[in-house]
Amino acid sequence: MGGRPGLGGGGASNIVAQGKHTLGSFPAVRMRRGRMQGFSRALLAENHVTAADLLWPVFVSDGIASPEAIDGMKGVMRLDLKSLADKAKQAHALGIPVIALFPRVAAKLKDADGSHAVDADNIVCRAIGAVKRACPELGVMVDVALDPFTSHGHDGVIRNGAVDNDATLEVLAKQAVVYAKAGADIIAPSDMMDGRVAVIRAGLDKAGLANTMIMSYAAKYASALYAPFREAVAAAPLAEIADKKTYQMDPANGREAVREIGLDIAEGADFILVKPGLPYLDIVRQAADAFPVPIFAYQVSGEYRMIRTLMDDVDEATGRALAMEMLVAFKRAGARGVLTYFAFDIASWLQKG
Ligand code: PBG
Repeated sequence: MGGRPGLGGGGASNIVAQGKHTLGSFPAVRMRRGRMQGFSRALLAENHVTAADLLWPVFVSDGIASPEAIDGMKGVMRLDLKSLADKAKQAHALGIPVIALFPRVAAKLKDADGSHAVDADNIVCRAIGAVKRACPELGVMVDVALDPFTSHGHDGVIRNGAVDNDATLEVLAKQAVVYAKAGADIIAPSDMMDGRVAVIRAGLDKAGLANTMIMSYAAKYASALYAPFREAVAAAPLAEIADKKTYQMDPANGREAVREIGLDIAEGADFILVKPGLPYLDIVRQAADAFPVPIFAYQVSGEYRMIRTLMDDVDEATGRALAMEMLVAFKRAGARGVLTYFAFDIASWLQKG
């Protein structure tokens, strides 16, 4: 390398690490030079946030005639189908590529096995239809898991006192096919049962739905950050479902996530999701380095609420700046895109400039 700066890619950092300072030093080097003006900051930015990075999670509900506030998630509403269709058109016009649907299911439709999940007339299927009729170009992603449909709030069926992996797989494959037939473009299994990507892929292919994509929640942690979401979908009382540790991952584990992700890719996942987002940026980075598949991150309801609190309790501008900072951090960590409840707001801010 002859000590010449900037050659040899990774070599440069090795030289620095060896203490040879081939990249120069102060006062010849002044890092602030590039930060002095707007044009150079823009020129030097390694990552950007655009509307194309945003996947917008939306809550839908039947039995309501107009949007309904969610106590724990200020600024987020449960939408009726008419409002959903309007919002979908607006989101598409803002450049958001994907809307992700989450249902609030009426208590009377829930049972221990979550059987309403496979009813082709359930709220998710009707919401998919409403979005696709209003705006066929907008991608529709749906969560495949039983928790909004089970009376106990778990993501699977319970046999002999435990969430039964293999009995749940069958239902998930059916649910995926029902959603895909209703028009869903991306199936997103969020249940964390072993082997579900393979059965869902096989189910879709058998039903002639080979082009339906799968975004697997491959590394989904048992997190306290889901609490506002569980209120939003009116899952069973929190105290009863707080423990999803027999299927969601232990926050202590990072290498295990790489294994989980590898398994889901092998089973046929097109894209991978890491969830929650911010406390798991190391997982996003490891996944992006380890696998040549698109990696997405989910900035979950608890993260939304933290930023929202700053917005409401400190000031709006600080909250907005934080929302943007988090997004660029996801991109820096290697995420291709982010599911965020701020998607619509951020896309509007970006459009206004
Ligand atoms: C359910 C599901 C959850 C979330 C997305 N899908 C909750 C859970 O696993 O209990 C959480 C999303 C959020 O907190 O924003 N399978």
